[in-house]
Amino acid sequence: MRILIIHISNLSLRNFRNYQNLDINLPDKVTLLMGNNGQGKSNFLEAIYMLSVAKSYRGNTERDLITEGSVNGLSYSKIACDIQLQEKSTKLEIHYQCEPFDNKDGFVAQKFIKINGIPKRASDFVGNLNSVLFSVAELDLVFGTPSSRRRYLNILISQIDKIYLKNLLDFQKINSQRNSLLKLIREGNSQDNELSYWDSQSAKLATDLIIKRVEILENLSNLSNPIHKEMSNLKENMYCSYLPSTKEIYPMNPEKCFDFISSQLISNRSRDISAGTTSIGPHRDDFQIFINDLDSHRFSSRGQARTAVLALKFAEAEILKRSRNTTPILLLDDLLSELDLERREQILDMTTMFDQSIITTAEPEIISQSFKNQSNLLEINHGEISEKKT
Ligand SMILES: Nc1ncnc2c1ncn2[C@@H]1O[C@H](COP(=O)(O)OP(=O)(O)O)[C@@H](O)[C@H]1O
Ligand SMILES: [Mg+2]
Repeated sequence: MRILIIHISNLSLRNFRNYQNLDINLPDKVTLLMGNNGQGKSNFLEAIYMLSVAKSYRGNTERDLITEGSVNGLSYSKIACDIQLQEKSTKLEIHYQCEPFDNKDGFVAQKFIKINGIPKRASDFVGNLNSVLFSVAELDLVFGTPSSRRRYLNILISQIDKIYLKNLLDFQKINSQRNSLLKLIREGNSQDNELSYWDSQSAKLATDLIIKRVEILENLSNLSNPIHKEMSNLKENMYCSYLPSTKEIYPMNPEKCFDFISSQLISNRSRDISAGTTSIGPHRDDFQIFINDLDSHRFSSRGQARTAVLALKFAEAEILKRSRNTTPILLLDDLLSELDLERREQILDMTTMFDQSIITTAEPEIISQSFKNQSNLLEINHGEISEKKT
């Protein structure tokens, strides 16, 4: 398998968070973006991440993304980049067109996605540019809620499997229709037997989602274990396991899984009717990260969690690389100051495995001069970026 070389050669932002008008060329290999807190380092990486997955990783609304105060008058925002895949150049764009509207934000934003100027759906956009983001917020994978872990799996799998993304969106629709029907039944305005149709639609999609998630999680687990071993000096053993919302685990045979979910939906029916929501299924599942057989969510220290998340992220990069034939862009957000010297060197060494890395830091002094000498150095001040001479 030949891995194709990819990098972002230009990024341009208009009215995106604290960037009014940015147009910057980026080389391959390492770029260090240095600046104090609140200058726009995370926003810069967020923009690149959005160009990968067509939405904000922080789960923000348009109101948050569009520059405060730009809505009246300017009325549009843009996040765009040129990617260079071997010799081929492709332009990726996300536009928000705002119209005044009588709601709490005072406007509505319409999102347009384009590849080389041609309008596309999000599902066709995702996968053109892959990136892996490491930030302190990623500790949510260990300490956060089940929804942050589901979101992680959903975004990862969507980048490599378009059918998964379609099934996920369909499942969300079916599940919310099923929930509306549950409420109608609770209020005496519909009959129980109307649920059968939604149950079978839901079980069909749920089966596909769950089987894919378990498969990818197993890959993540197998790939992250040796990386984690190395990072913990061979002391610790890490693995991940899928945690179903049902009491029993899902059978991995598709027909058996479908039958199992269907029967679970029926046995939970009366409870679901009184709650008005569906209590079992992929929208309620979770996964666990074990370190030396202990559930890290409950038992790990901050340091252990950080190592586990780093290992998971490098495993994620490997999965993206194998399935897309390109190395993802490495995005490191202010992570280095969180790490001790040895771990920091380890992480910076790993950047050599990537075609392009963008590393932000508020503490440039902790990065060695030799590493800086090999990097493209940028300085950021209030959303304005300039080149920095060493
Ligand atoms: N929609 C927005 N409009 C204008 N400024 C914003 C918007 N969203 C965030 N910001 C500003 O961006 C800055 C934070 O940027 P961030 O990238 O998180 O900084 P850093 O990572 O360098 O600490 C803050 O000053 C914040 O007020
Ligand atoms: Mg930041």
